[in-house]
Amino acid sequence: MTIGDMGFYNIEDLRQKAKKRLPKGVFEYIDLGAEDYIALRNNRTAYEELKTKNRVLIDVSKRSTETQIFNNKIKMPYGISPTASAGLTNYGGEIDLARAAQRMGVVCTAATSALTPMEEIWDAAGGENLWFQLYMWVDKELRMKFVENIQAVGYKTLIVTVDGPVGANREHNNRNGYSMPLRYSPQLVSGILAKPGWCFRVLLKQYLKRGSFQKENYPEELNKKLTQLDLASGTKQIKPDMQCWDDIKRIQEIWKGNLLIKGLQSAEDAVLAAEMGLDGVVLSNHGGRYVDNAPSPLQVTAETRAAVGKDFRIIIDSGPRRGSDIVKALACGANMVMSGRPTLYGVAAAGEAGAYRALEIFYTEMDRIMAQLGLNSVDEIGPQIFWNPPDWVPQPKLGLKVAAE
Ligand SMILES: Cc1cc2nc3c(=O)[nH]c(=O)nc-3n(C[C@H](O)[C@H](O)[C@H](O)COP(=O)(O)O)c2cc1C
Repeated sequence: MTIGDMGFYNIEDLRQKAKKRLPKGVFEYIDLGAEDYIALRNNRTAYEELKTKNRVLIDVSKRSTETQIFNNKIKMPYGISPTASAGLTNYGGEIDLARAAQRMGVVCTAATSALTPMEEIWDAAGGENLWFQLYMWVDKELRMKFVENIQAVGYKTLIVTVDGPVGANREHNNRNGYSMPLRYSPQLVSGILAKPGWCFRVLLKQYLKRGSFQKENYPEELNKKLTQLDLASGTKQIKPDMQCWDDIKRIQEIWKGNLLIKGLQSAEDAVLAAEMGLDGVVLSNHGGRYVDNAPSPLQVTAETRAAVGKDFRIIIDSGPRRGSDIVKALACGANMVMSGRPTLYGVAAAGEAGAYRALEIFYTEMDRIMAQLGLNSVDEIGPQIFWNPPDWVPQPKLGLKVAAE
């Protein structure tokens, strides 16, 4: 029996299964956003608002979703965004994600705040398409040492996350008792006890194999500090400290591979990144988890492309749930699309097979919509696919010849 036969026909099916299998606090940590969820909803409506029109009578029998990123072949222009604590969805969830991506031939980004050490993720599925996401710890020396360690493990592409200089306002975490490190408050415990399957699959395995959940890539001294600060302030941030462009320059000096920054939402910042010689940017509003009034990255893609020119790499995340969303993002000027939640739902639903199923859904849907729109390759995707687009989308040039009267 294939996973598809078990009823996962779209990303929402995986989400519903994840909701059934995860404790309330863990599910809401993954699924919800900041404050009133305005950005979270807008991330979806921005995609849904765009209408595409088909072109007919085109031979699409040899079409392909394949493309390249940093000269490496990928099955489709889609990658897995970094997500902290993926190990809460399944024991070793980070490895499930990396293996699923490797099997599909797409990018996966391991996170600094993983519950599985970066070396184990690399050993399980290392390669050019396994990237690493860096959080800029306040302690600069520890951070630079960490960057060197990441390089020594073998990672070649580093994404530095630069949004969230202070902690996010996620009120649901206060209500359901979720925090990392986990604190077993009555609300959290009641959510956990309601999911005995999760207790065996995740909690018990974790305690038997690794001990309490912790950010495995953090040096011990920092993990301790983090725990104290978490307890004191109720925020995940180490402390509200400023990270600046100079810090990126310091990383640039020692990092030999590809370097990107993630979490910007403005063409102005993308221009600064391009001028600094970075290899690209990831436009992201963190999946609506930080600034509740942030635009969807999709809505700022076209203006960013116009500002940085055609050769600078723009990746966007936050909101894609269908293969057609990948096509829409590329038509707005992105080189690649990412998201974090769909494969996390997949891991929660069925481990590595569930994450793979999420990728398979994106692939099948992208392949189908390309055929339906009359597109044979990723290079053919452009604004001509839009019908009556809003003004934040590049306007199609129709090139119609009007018949003479
Ligand atoms: C549970 C969860 C944890 C996340 N942790 C991180 C993280 O540690 N570092 C980071 O740069 N982004 C993190 N993100 C943001 C994702 O990288 C990505 O920007 C977001 O998931 C995009 O939204 P989407 O998944 O709805 O498309 C996290 C997102 C989720 C859902």
